[in-house]
Amino acid sequence: MTVRSSQRPVFDPVDPAFLEDPYPCYAQIRDAGPLVRLGPTQWVTGRHAQVTRLLRDPRLRNEWPEPFQRMRLGDGEVKDFLLRLMLYREGTDHTQLRRFLSAIMHATPAAELRSYVARVSDQQIRGALESGRLEVMDDLAFPVPLAAACELIGVPDEDRPMIKAWGIELIKAFAVVLSEPDRPLANTAITELRNYFRGSLRGRDPKLAAIAAALGGTAASGPLRHDELVDNVIFLLVSGFTTTVHLIATALAILLDHPGVIAQLRDDRSLLHGAVEELLRYDAPLQHISRLAVEIVDVDGQKIRPGRVVHLLLGSANHDERQFASPERLDIRREPNPHVSFGTGLHACLGAGLGRLELTTLLDRLLSQCRILEPGGTAVRRPMQVFRTYSRIPVAVAA
Ligand code: HEM
Repeated sequence: MTVRSSQRPVFDPVDPAFLEDPYPCYAQIRDAGPLVRLGPTQWVTGRHAQVTRLLRDPRLRNEWPEPFQRMRLGDGEVKDFLLRLMLYREGTDHTQLRRFLSAIMHATPAAELRSYVARVSDQQIRGALESGRLEVMDDLAFPVPLAAACELIGVPDEDRPMIKAWGIELIKAFAVVLSEPDRPLANTAITELRNYFRGSLRGRDPKLAAIAAALGGTAASGPLRHDELVDNVIFLLVSGFTTTVHLIATALAILLDHPGVIAQLRDDRSLLHGAVEELLRYDAPLQHISRLAVEIVDVDGQKIRPGRVVHLLLGSANHDERQFASPERLDIRREPNPHVSFGTGLHACLGAGLGRLELTTLLDRLLSQCRILEPGGTAVRRPMQVFRTYSRIPVAVAA
């Protein structure tokens, strides 16, 4: 059992019961106080005010010592890869990497990406309409973000299945612990991705050529090395589709459970923007992140000492009754909706705009093309560390 009624609550992020439904555990942690001690070295908070405040506090960092990453990941290439990522860097290295990746993100105009995502969505929906059945994971949740992330970087169509297979192995390294059997697979995936990019950056695709030029310029003008920058481009590509897949999955599962909301959106497409924010809040695709204290941080009278870990429960903050009225209710007109599904502070998600664009465009195309959009069987959750997702969401559709 994840939740114990006596004394302090337990936060066990790999417990199958927690992965099945983390919300009862979150409620206990919120009730236990603004900051809850888990043991001699660890703290947790599930309240919105503390999660947002601590994510913006420079005394809490996302740069972890090498032995810690070795313990989580083993001593292979994947550990070296993670140590280089902007997600796990602070200070000027982080600023420079973020500037570099933002330039790649913004090189493709949003309007161009929107029409590309609409085209891919239409293609996928058309295929499903011919058979009258749509399987969200296979038909939409994987193909649409994979296509968008590859388009952003300039990965050609024929290479995308390979990128998908490597990405699926690599993303497991962002779990709490990379299991022993998964370690060689993740190490192979990063080795293959590095080889692939070393080759393709020398190719003729104009987007890849622009990235190659930026890599050369950035590496020449600062302390970051060329191979370090390549690893961060790989991170951008992989985080681009391995997270949005879960957003599309959870969003569609929620909507299929709320046919009244589908009807409202069909009648008034201007509600889509608020609906996307509420779907992000309702079941955050990425549920929790952690930080390491480098100085004493006082939280409502409790002291987090240097070297201590704090777990920040995004999924719980989004359901904090101190911030959101009736948080268990799906309310697409909720205003304001300060959910933290994309994090906040210096490490706030760089792809938030793209994730929103993808979900909004995809829902718009589904509503336009499908007169019938209803459950076609039982949706099956996939227990996955850190992420909320599904393995199967069958849908009955008709044009
Ligand atoms: C749509 C679903 C997505 C969700 C729920 C999500 C969530 C998050 C969260 C919570 C963080 C903060 C992590 C932390 O502070 O420890 C983050 C960071 C990041 N995300 Fe996303 N993300 C999504 C999509 C994307 C996409 C589409 C991209 C890229 C195209 C992307 C790229 C990144 C990057 C590069 C960072 C690191 C930022 C930094 O360290 O400064 N994400 N994401």
